[in-house]
Amino acid sequence: MFDLTARVAIVTGGNGGIGLGMARGLARAGARVVVAARNSDKADVAVRELSALGPPAVAIRTDVTVEHSVAELVDEVERRFGRLDILVNNAGINIRGSIQELSLAQWNDVLSTNLSSAFLCARAAYPLMKRQRGGKVINVGSMLSIFGASFAPAYGASKGGIVQLTKSLAVAWAPDGIQVNAVLPGWIDTELTQAGRRQIPGLSERVVARTPAGRWGTPNEFEGIAVFLASPASDFITGAAIPVDGGYSTMV
Ligand code: NAI
Repeated sequence: MFDLTARVAIVTGGNGGIGLGMARGLARAGARVVVAARNSDKADVAVRELSALGPPAVAIRTDVTVEHSVAELVDEVERRFGRLDILVNNAGINIRGSIQELSLAQWNDVLSTNLSSAFLCARAAYPLMKRQRGGKVINVGSMLSIFGASFAPAYGASKGGIVQLTKSLAVAWAPDGIQVNAVLPGWIDTELTQAGRRQIPGLSERVVARTPAGRWGTPNEFEGIAVFLASPASDFITGAAIPVDGGYSTMV
């Protein structure tokens, strides 16, 4: 039920953090992982690690904010492997600051990296998945898909948008046998949050106190959800947004 042998998976931003955690799960379950990321050195390290867990992984240098870069990624995957079964839209950034401090360029940067990228990648992947009569798209949201935060208006807008995009794609592509779901991480120890932990006094302790599980999550805790949502085990689940948050979103 959880076997991904012979499946081909693209993981955007799969060279570190949560993306690499998801990629590890997919590789262990037998999928060939394509790491689509900008930093080639980091991607090469990830590819070596993933290739030791499953079939040989590859890296294809991609900027998910650039339409032709995404098109080239999918063309290259089709040329090399002839198929695409799983797309994980994980690449993301955050620019902290109040709405008054945020420039339009910063707003556009966050929206295009976190939300428009998922539109571009899913749209590019669709013809292959439709032809194969099936596929799995996994979008990465956030607790800010649900809650508001004064310090991250663009990020919150992008992650709220991810959930609604997930629902629209799920409805549109269900007849093609393509399931589209979102994963909403709680506070996870990655490069993205390490900077915040250094800069914001008390953040680390506040997260621990606010999270029912009483700790930060780790990237490896995304292996299971990635395999589940990429495998036949989830064939009747589509349009869902699943928190992976140690209970954060269930506690007032
Ligand atoms: P990270 O910074 O370790 O990973 C983000 C990845 O996205 C990096 O590999 C980065 O190079 C890549 N990326 C950024 N812009 C890109 C672009 N234009 N083209 C290609 N790749 C690009 O951060 P983390 O924490 O692993 O984040 C992964 C996802 O999880 C993001 O969407 C983030 O918003 C989301 N998330 C993370 C949480 C956390 O607590 N760490 C909480 C909720 C959501």
